[in-house]
Amino acid sequence: MPIKAIHQHPLTRRDFLRGTGLAGGLVIGSGIHSLLSSCSPESSTTEIPQKNTIARGPNAKFIPDIEINLKAAPTTVPILPGQTTQVWSYAAQLVKGDPNSLQTIPDSYLGPIIRVRKGQRVRVNFQNNLPQGQASIVHWHGLILPEEMDGHPRFAIQPGQTYVYEFEVINRAGLNWFHPHPDGLTGQQAYAGLAGLFIVTDPEEAALNLPTGAYDVPIVLQDRTLDADNQLLYLGSKIGTPRNSNMGGMQQGNSGQSSNGMMGDMSSMMGFLGQKIFVNGKPNFTLSAATRVYRLRILNGSNSRIYKLAWSSGELLTVIGTDGSLLTHPTKRKYVMLAPGERIDIWADFSKLKVGTEVSLNSLAFSGAENVGGTNMGGMMSSDNAPELGSAMMLFNVKIEREEKETLRLPNQLAALPLLRPEDAVNATQPRPIELSLKGMKWVINGQPFEMNTALPQETVKLNSIEQWEIVNKLNPGAMMDAKGMAHPIHLHGVHFQVISREVLPELAAGWQTVKDGYVDEGLKDTVMVMPGERVKLLMKFEKYSGLFAYHCHTLEHEDAGMMRNYRVKE
Ligand code: C2O
Ligand code: CU
Ligand code: CU
Repeated sequence: MPIKAIHQHPLTRRDFLRGTGLAGGLVIGSGIHSLLSSCSPESSTTEIPQKNTIARGPNAKFIPDIEINLKAAPTTVPILPGQTTQVWSYAAQLVKGDPNSLQTIPDSYLGPIIRVRKGQRVRVNFQNNLPQGQASIVHWHGLILPEEMDGHPRFAIQPGQTYVYEFEVINRAGLNWFHPHPDGLTGQQAYAGLAGLFIVTDPEEAALNLPTGAYDVPIVLQDRTLDADNQLLYLGSKIGTPRNSNMGGMQQGNSGQSSNGMMGDMSSMMGFLGQKIFVNGKPNFTLSAATRVYRLRILNGSNSRIYKLAWSSGELLTVIGTDGSLLTHPTKRKYVMLAPGERIDIWADFSKLKVGTEVSLNSLAFSGAENVGGTNMGGMMSSDNAPELGSAMMLFNVKIEREEKETLRLPNQLAALPLLRPEDAVNATQPRPIELSLKGMKWVINGQPFEMNTALPQETVKLNSIEQWEIVNKLNPGAMMDAKGMAHPIHLHGVHFQVISREVLPELAAGWQTVKDGYVDEGLKDTVMVMPGERVKLLMKFEKYSGLFAYHCHTLEHEDAGMMRNYRVKE
């Protein structure tokens, strides 16, 4: 029935073409249009115009501790037996600094892993070698940076161009990550393989004696769909082949559209869901472990899929950190929710397991995160019969293969966080409202789509002020596709926040009950999952840098379709 609704509204496709003709060359459409451009003759060319222009050059006065060349380019990796898979990937090269500060993940599209100490100065020479039409920029998700270092879409550079980042790392110890952030193209570029990790350490963390080296394992969860030839499929079409920004093609309207294209449109609105779980860029991942304690730092790097993490053994998850930092004390949970963009830091004690045993990290079933047009909508709309959002699934196996002696102990006290008091917010009695809703076929924030260079007066905050923001995931009665909405992981650039309260509408409490015990809200975060009908209050201080920063839904298809706004920090 919802599909029928689409047929009755032939203009809906155009609704996705946000900004067409308004933002000039910068807005070049999204993956859903590659289907159309694949019939155009130019789309088979792999030529990259080598303009070699520098969009932002180095500052000779900046003396980096670490300098890295980072190039985004098409390449191939072996993923399954048989044909290699075309991907887009970051190739990195250390120019200066400790060799341990740069680690690549062999045979994976993911990476690199950049490791720095708090206080270090980093220069990254980012080169965009993606196919024509693929403007890009690197966003350092979780790092607190000046606006021109943050990778906002307004700084996106064209293929052939270079952008030099120079910054000092002021973050606490924690797992951050980086990924592309061009307007309208983030979903397909991240899906094609562009993402890496940025791990910060500090003396406070070092003093805790947490597992290090081979016992500190980053885990990046993603979902992907491969076709019969081992090629990545995104929204019904192949990735790794050049995608043209074929504006003419994009504006052809709906005539002659294949059912795949229709699926593309719909899962673009709902968010892409893939068939297979990938860990660190590989399907069927198994962690070979010893009888030891491990630190598993898990990032949800999926475009849209939300996980409800739990051990198959029924053992509680011991959480020691979230997005922005360690917690003040460890906390134990039956399960932990992890939405796109979020990170969770797990103390995983395998010391009592016997060699030869296995335990898996699973995602348990949950409901209510996708209430659009009825329960089956997600399944019908995700391309290629991917498991629905909220389906139970195995994520990866841990095989205990070696006996080793463990001496580490879980500390009672972790980090001394500079936690704020809600009553100290300048707007404690009237938090700044951030309303999430559906307008036509587009998800919007406070009723507005993304605008590249502006922030409204109500999106302007004062440097050094403490604020409360209240995110409200609204019902959308009467909206064509949506009565109850979807879960949205809301991410703020440029600041860490505390989550100080959550409430849900009674009529949507049932789904919420299946996820709420998995929210880990005790620490500092930069991304927060907000269920349909939920209100979440955030508390934060805008204390580091003034400027224009983005906040958006981290369901990348929502972000690409305009569920993003700017806020301005004013001196
Ligand atoms: Cu991880 Cu603005 O994104
Ligand atoms: Cu970010
Ligand atoms: Cu969203």
